[in-house]
Amino acid sequence: MKRKTFLQSLGLGALGVGTRPLWAETLPLPLGEAGTAGLDWEAVKAGFDLKPGYRYFNSGGLGPSLRAVRAATDALAAELEAFVETGHERLEPVRERVGAYFNADAAEVAFVRNATEANGIVAGGLALQPGDEVIFESHAHPGGSFPWMLQAERRGVAVRLFEPDPESVAGNVERIRSLVTPRTRVIQVSHITAPTGIHLPVTEIAAFCRRQGLWFHVDGAQSAGMIPVDFAAMGCDSYATSGHKWVGAPRETGVLLVKRDRQEDLKSVMAGAYSGELETLPGPIDYYPGAMRYEYGTRDTARIFGLAEAMAWQEKMGRERIAQHGRQLVARLRAGLADVPDLEILSPRNPELGSSMLCLRTPRMPYGELFRGLRQNHNMRCRPVSERGLDAVRISCHVFNTADDVDRLIEAIAVEIKNA
Ligand SMILES: Cc1ncc(COP(=O)(O)O)c(C=O)c1O
Repeated sequence: MKRKTFLQSLGLGALGVGTRPLWAETLPLPLGEAGTAGLDWEAVKAGFDLKPGYRYFNSGGLGPSLRAVRAATDALAAELEAFVETGHERLEPVRERVGAYFNADAAEVAFVRNATEANGIVAGGLALQPGDEVIFESHAHPGGSFPWMLQAERRGVAVRLFEPDPESVAGNVERIRSLVTPRTRVIQVSHITAPTGIHLPVTEIAAFCRRQGLWFHVDGAQSAGMIPVDFAAMGCDSYATSGHKWVGAPRETGVLLVKRDRQEDLKSVMAGAYSGELETLPGPIDYYPGAMRYEYGTRDTARIFGLAEAMAWQEKMGRERIAQHGRQLVARLRAGLADVPDLEILSPRNPELGSSMLCLRTPRMPYGELFRGLRQNHNMRCRPVSERGLDAVRISCHVFNTADDVDRLIEAIAVEIKNA
């Protein structure tokens, strides 16, 4: 109600700006006889604007958008530009749509810039005292670790790290359990780790955290869009992600999900218009009920609309089918590389902990050389992995990658290693 009051005070809603959701109904779905489970992956690839001949294997870093998603985003941006309106009232149906994608309540969805910002809101917003402890994995991406190092600097929070176990679900829970002390307040894990693509057992860790009364935050920058994510079933308190990796949404489309009954325990780290109401100045902010309280200021509505549009497209394709395609390409890659000498695969062998990413290295050349060789000699883009001295490259396999891409990549890796 209060939110409406604020929007009405700006005169929105009366103009009828951008009232027509697209939700992917206009997107042609490339069904075909060939390909996995009835989808023609070459036709899917043709829906993206990747440069012909360029083979892109870095969705874990940044994902391309479907041409149709960009068209829908651009159309709304043009419509809003013509009236010079923010279109903020459009965000409410978008919030519903994004909530549905994650099996979360719309009131659990906050729109932020990226996963790093979402992680920062959790690290900065929990009531922690000097000496309180947070546990997260040693493979955390800077977007997951820096927010906590900032809290270590500013509030004296103590950071404890566990080495993720690439082969055992129980091993990961045990490694976390062994670090818990009476001062532990928060456990954070990457749903899928960035350097080597380990799918950590979040449901089991959530059950452990609930028993211990610990806040459980999941950094899902690598999971949304790669695998189906069910926020309600996962059992965590909060979940952070980016739309601009695996979902195929425009850049700067981050999402923070916070359980309804935990929102009072997570304070805002920034506040302004759209965070709540303020009757008199000076006076207390009356935060909006729901995760909208973590938002503030003017937004790029068209971009956020593009996020929901990309999600609708993924649902239309089948999210389990997308995950399966990635896993199958990784299995093909692993099998094809088995005969290449001097090659070590760092990603999990156990399919329960595997993902759509494969991380590999060779003693024949440093990671930077292999990365550059693939790029310069074969027009292939992977991701160099320098973290933790891993000295490796990471391959991401997503919907626009095909079996042919993977076969060419296997040949290219073999050639680069042979010529080293
Ligand atoms: C696990 C993890 N967390 C956070 C991030 C940062 O994402 P963003 O740049 O969208 O903030 C990444 C990016 O690769 C990541 O892999």
